[in-house]
Amino acid sequence: MNTTILLAHAYGQSDVLELETHTLPALASGMARIQVKTAGINPIDARRMTGEFKHADLPQTFGTEYAGVILELNGSQSTWQIGDEVLGSGGAFTHASVIDVPIANLVKKPSNISWAVAGTIAGAAQTAMTILDEMGPAQSLLLHGGSGGVGSVLIQIAVDRGINVVATASEKNQDYIRALGATPVIYGEGLIERIRQVHPTAFDVSIDMIGNEDATHASLQLVKANGFKGTIAGRKVSSNQIQPVWVKRNVQNLQHVVDGIADGRFQWAVSREYPFVQAQQAYADILEGHTKGKSVLVFEK
Ligand SMILES: NC(=O)c1ccc[n+]([C@@H]2O[C@H](COP(=O)([O-])OP(=O)(O)OC[C@H]3O[C@@H](n4cnc5c(N)ncnc54)[C@H](OP(=O)(O)O)[C@@H]3O)[C@@H](O)[C@H]2O)c1
Repeated sequence: MNTTILLAHAYGQSDVLELETHTLPALASGMARIQVKTAGINPIDARRMTGEFKHADLPQTFGTEYAGVILELNGSQSTWQIGDEVLGSGGAFTHASVIDVPIANLVKKPSNISWAVAGTIAGAAQTAMTILDEMGPAQSLLLHGGSGGVGSVLIQIAVDRGINVVATASEKNQDYIRALGATPVIYGEGLIERIRQVHPTAFDVSIDMIGNEDATHASLQLVKANGFKGTIAGRKVSSNQIQPVWVKRNVQNLQHVVDGIADGRFQWAVSREYPFVQAQQAYADILEGHTKGKSVLVFEK
């Protein structure tokens, strides 16, 4: 069976991306073969493309999440059948028309979730759940960068747990942040004063999606001295009080968010859809760093 794969033979801007057709080997034991319908695009894909992160040799492939249909199974289990609709994670290879993933990591796609949404859940959902696990109990959270993929779901899970969230975004996304359940604040010059106006007391914890000095200074000044101050941005910041957080993949965490979307507790915005053949444009756009909610690649078949 053939698969069309997005890959790059060099680091650079989105013009390094190419589509190549390869023949897949026989399906390995414990694996499911998936016809990919949609796959979310994440900043990490574009940051690997440029070489900011070098996690693999060249040529490299991309994509950490997907939704699709099971084409083939190679395992002694009875849970799944050919034709089942599923979603999940994959380590930098889901931007391809047919992929092989471990059966153990499959999550059922609820019928009331669209393909566009289903393909974009895994990365942001598991990252948000990791952040909540690592920051520990809190009643108030300062979130730098609330309107993107991770921020949008983090706000909603935190609010669902009774946490008071203040989240930054640009002016155009203030209403969006409010609709997710947080108090919005515009980032940029004067940030600390604007946050103090809406939340005069010290925060229990903070998390930063951006990794810039504005966010670092605000967290140091506005969060309790012993409160958790984290960043997922993967960028060097000036204080060692800001602790890096890295996503831990966990099927139960993913299922929790999928259930919340299916039962209407969590809303999920996919602001941009691109045919797979327009992946170069999709990667150029996500590199700009102003995605509202999620972006998705849509496959033909
Ligand atoms: N450590 C990990 O395991 C891990 C996991 C997932 C993601 N990440 C990283 O975490 C970051 C966020 O991921 P994401 O998927 O949420 O990104 P995203 O969907 O691209 O969203 C980024 C958001 O940041 C906001 N933003 C841009 N500049 C800002 C600023 N100066 N201050 C405050 N907010 C600003 C944008 O809001 P506006 O449009 O309103 O400007 C946008 O909504 C990325 O760098 C990604 O690589 C790390």
